[in-house]
Amino acid sequence: MKILITSALPYVNNVPHLGNIIGCVLSADVFARYCRSRGYDCIYVGGTDEYGTATEIKALEEGVTPKEICDKYYAIHKGIYDWLGISFDIFGRTSTEKHTKLTQEIFLALHRNGHIVEDEVEQLYDEKAGMFLADRYIEGECPHCSYLGARGDQCDKCGKLLHPGELINPLSKVTKTKPVARKTKHLFINLPGIEAELEKWVDSASVKGEWSENTTKIARSWLREGLKKRCITRDLKWGVPVPLAGYESKVFYVWFEAPIGYISITANLTEAWKEWWLGATDLDVRLYNFIGKDNVPFHAVIFPSTLMGTKQPWTLVHHISTTEFLNYEGGKFSKSRNTGVFGDDALNSGIAPDVWRYYLLSNRPESADTDFTWGDFSDKSNSELLANLGNLVNRTLVFMKNNFGGAVPDADAMNDADKAFLAQQDALVREITSDLEKVKIRDGIHRIMSLSKHANKYFQDNKPWELVRATDKPELDAGNRTRAAAVMSVLVRQVRDLAILVEPYLPFTGAEIFRQLNLPQAKWGDTGKPLPVGHKLGEPKALFRKIEPKEIDALKAKFAGKGGEQTFTFADLDLEVGEIQSVEKHPDAEKLFVEKVRLGDGIRQIVSGLAGHYLEEELVGKKVVIVKNLAPAKLRGVESAGMLLAAEGREHVPQKVGKGAGLEQDAVEVVFCPQSQVGQKVLRKGEKSGPKKTITFKEFGKVKIEIKDFAVVCDGKPLATIGEELRVKNIREGVVG
Ligand code: MF3
Ligand code: ZN
Repeated sequence: MKILITSALPYVNNVPHLGNIIGCVLSADVFARYCRSRGYDCIYVGGTDEYGTATEIKALEEGVTPKEICDKYYAIHKGIYDWLGISFDIFGRTSTEKHTKLTQEIFLALHRNGHIVEDEVEQLYDEKAGMFLADRYIEGECPHCSYLGARGDQCDKCGKLLHPGELINPLSKVTKTKPVARKTKHLFINLPGIEAELEKWVDSASVKGEWSENTTKIARSWLREGLKKRCITRDLKWGVPVPLAGYESKVFYVWFEAPIGYISITANLTEAWKEWWLGATDLDVRLYNFIGKDNVPFHAVIFPSTLMGTKQPWTLVHHISTTEFLNYEGGKFSKSRNTGVFGDDALNSGIAPDVWRYYLLSNRPESADTDFTWGDFSDKSNSELLANLGNLVNRTLVFMKNNFGGAVPDADAMNDADKAFLAQQDALVREITSDLEKVKIRDGIHRIMSLSKHANKYFQDNKPWELVRATDKPELDAGNRTRAAAVMSVLVRQVRDLAILVEPYLPFTGAEIFRQLNLPQAKWGDTGKPLPVGHKLGEPKALFRKIEPKEIDALKAKFAGKGGEQTFTFADLDLEVGEIQSVEKHPDAEKLFVEKVRLGDGIRQIVSGLAGHYLEEELVGKKVVIVKNLAPAKLRGVESAGMLLAAEGREHVPQKVGKGAGLEQDAVEVVFCPQSQVGQKVLRKGEKSGPKKTITFKEFGKVKIEIKDFAVVCDGKPLATIGEELRVKNIREGVVG
């Protein structure tokens, strides 16, 4: 059987942060290294996702071509992954000829099979440049924080997702003129036509591939809602051209073609790529996708549908390994706010790659979000890597050198207790193997560290240092020495087993232990085997160094400027139920409403960007949630004392055609709470309220409130008043702001 491993192709135009790294490339690397160590026929395919608006815009900003941007960032990505020891069989890119050809072929097959439909949509058009504008090509004032450089899809200052129609004074980024609405044609993949087949596949694939509960839930939730047709074309230049008359000025949407990158990059690795991708059964090839949780719908639903729609026997995913988010010092990693540790920071930190790998893998956000903190990073490095693993290897090899001339002793004198110890450790190795077979990467490293801990304890309990000391009863000494030899043969074997086991996780350390053992790198199947008696071990050397508090302080200080020093959590928010008394249009901004809201302690005026989404009468009299301790601000000249919570979701709502300016419909939905009373606090279930300071809009942005399966949650915990748990009706997954 062949094992085909992919990690989500990172967007080329960003430097990956630690959360991106653990989410895909590093996790997949452990699995790939494990598979190779098992002797499986496997390849690990990765690369950069290069097309799309983000790249075009970056090029526009830096005054270079998109290709130049991609070349520059491709090298940055590659440099980071090389440093970190990521063992891609190929690290490719999507901007290749093979990629274009494959994408077009797949599209044409879908088209032949009747799965592509055409539709007209209204979109903003730049008359001067003569082009339709993607959301990001539109710029204007943010309705939330008044930042003047907000884009049609997102505000980089406050981080909120936007709809081009919400921007105040929208201008084309290309010519700085005011865009006009115009109709244009786009192509859609008609997912409803593939849905029945997809559903059958999800039912069996999710069981066979042991998808995580979360992954299966997301896939099923999409199916339950019913799949909608999805737009697969965009008005851009930097992309794969659409091979259809009338579409010469359009390219494919990145999410249509990027996953095809897995295939095209394999084709750039080997002529025999079809052995991996076409006509194989589940017994011939198993595809493992490593992705972050935000990529699940594309890998579990949309891409499989695309491949199925071709009616060609493409390899579909077997196991999807998803991660939740890694947070940074209690907040979010964010490129736009420059918060967190990025790949290039780690590379320049003076701390070895395996130390980073260890921390990230042993804190892999497998079932819930986890947090990177500098304190924890240095504690774990010192107490686990250095004091446990490093200590065992070093004391064993030094003891061998000093007392046995570094020659592996005879194990004949092992007693029953030694044998029982080894049997117990070997059982642990089998559990580690089973962890890795199931891609339980974090459990695997935790068990490896227990194995090391047990070996340290065995060393401690058997006190070989006493056994080798000459006593005043020389008749006992020979026996003691034989006993010490047995103990050390057990320990040397443990060190060699650990070298094999840690290699997928800590490849540099694994290789270094083998060097010190003076043995060629052994494979997974060699664990438990005795070492050749008399084999001369190499020179011992410390594997890890202590990370000093002052070193961490210096790094922390360096990163403090990056906004990581202050954290804001849910506890910093004062959320209260209020009732909307009146709604009026903002005198100067057509997308803004001015609401009077009654709270527990009186009436407040709040400005919000709901005008495009609700009618006045849909809001008056409704109970809503207000962020009460937000510093007051003027929005287009009107005072706003707080904020009204609303959910926003992009991908998960039916695509309405001919309405709104965006192709991907953005939905905005106010979080209503009809069962609650004015003045009640909104808390995480089971928690109590405390005193609150005033916070800025930016600080508010650091607290991640989300919609998950229609429920309003923060850090996975539902938000509730005494009367009800907060929910929305139309947005299944989204953000709340
Ligand atoms: N570039 C996307 C991201 O970073 C992932 C693309 S995965 C692929 O979220 F399958 F489309 F390649
Ligand atoms: Zn903003």
